[in-house]
Amino acid sequence: MVDSYVGWPLDMVARKLTKKTVFIGHEALENRSMLDLRRPLERGVIKEGSDKDEQAVRELLRHLISLIGIHQNRKDRTKIRAVVGVPAEAFRVSKQRLRGAMDGIADSVMLVSEPFAVAYGLEALLHSVIIDIGAGTADFCVMRGRYPTEQDQRTLPSAGDAIDEQLAKLIRERHPEVQFSIHMIRDWKEKWAFVGKPKRRVMVTAPVKGKASDLDITDELRSACESILPPICETLLDLVAHVEPEFQDKVRHKVILAGGSALISGLTDAIEKALLDVGGGRATVVKDPVFAGSDGGLAIARDASNSDWERLSAAA
Ligand SMILES: Nc1ncnc2c1ncn2[C@@H]1O[C@H](COP(=O)(O)OP(=O)(O)OP(=O)(O)O)[C@@H](O)[C@H]1O
Ligand SMILES: [Mg+2]
Repeated sequence: MVDSYVGWPLDMVARKLTKKTVFIGHEALENRSMLDLRRPLERGVIKEGSDKDEQAVRELLRHLISLIGIHQNRKDRTKIRAVVGVPAEAFRVSKQRLRGAMDGIADSVMLVSEPFAVAYGLEALLHSVIIDIGAGTADFCVMRGRYPTEQDQRTLPSAGDAIDEQLAKLIRERHPEVQFSIHMIRDWKEKWAFVGKPKRRVMVTAPVKGKASDLDITDELRSACESILPPICETLLDLVAHVEPEFQDKVRHKVILAGGSALISGLTDAIEKALLDVGGGRATVVKDPVFAGSDGGLAIARDASNSDWERLSAAA
């Protein structure tokens, strides 16, 4: 798992200190004061309009491939096939840009919808609904025993990043004197995120005019996490309502949550509560929410035939 941050040393001093041309992931975040730091993905797609962001995406992809640990020599080159998860409703242009970004990095690709990859990995292919709540997007997919169509899928911007922004806004309003960064906000959220009744008060430490101070953020954290619930529940109910009437009950009882933001405590209870109004249901979180999508991608890759892969023009 690599955080999608890329940074280049800002100036001569930074270059002298870091002795590296590029930083990726956690390392980029840790050294951010010395770097031109980029987070090239937003709402699940590559940010538009900046060459730096496109360059950052390619650095990330190259880095990910290097982690596989294959040693390429000129004569006997291993072919690389990549499965790339995209938001369920990724627009055609963003898919096209992603193919462009992969060109020269992998030999062939398969672009799959993220929640579909989760469903495939779990073999939850019939009468189920997957909600993959990541950083940029929450992606929905109803599985009806065949490849999902556009009608079976939805994408919302109600996910981890939206919670972070909301939490920052609420803390700033309530405690204007407190100094914090969006990275501190995300750390706090990942430790204590919850919806519903709090089990304990959430206390954090942050500087006020340079002095470390204790801060109770329980109410702000709850509001921020709960802010994604109404759109998610509404979309879930709407998708279920479009399933054949005799199967709706089955689908409601197989709501599967994945993605890092599925780790928010109390989420399944909140979703089951929303399902009560329409006859009840059951929601569960997959065993390994952060990796469920990539596990599914691997399962798809193993089952795919040659013709399922798209060859890229400028093979690596
Ligand atoms: N324990 C946790 N509690 C709450 N949120 C968490 C936790 N761990 C990770 N997250 C959040 O999950 C998100 C990352 O999840 P994931 O890795 O599934 O996203 P992604 O696949 O990179 O994003 P997307 O699918 O939107 O492109 C981040 O917003 C992160 O802050
Ligand atoms: Mg994801």
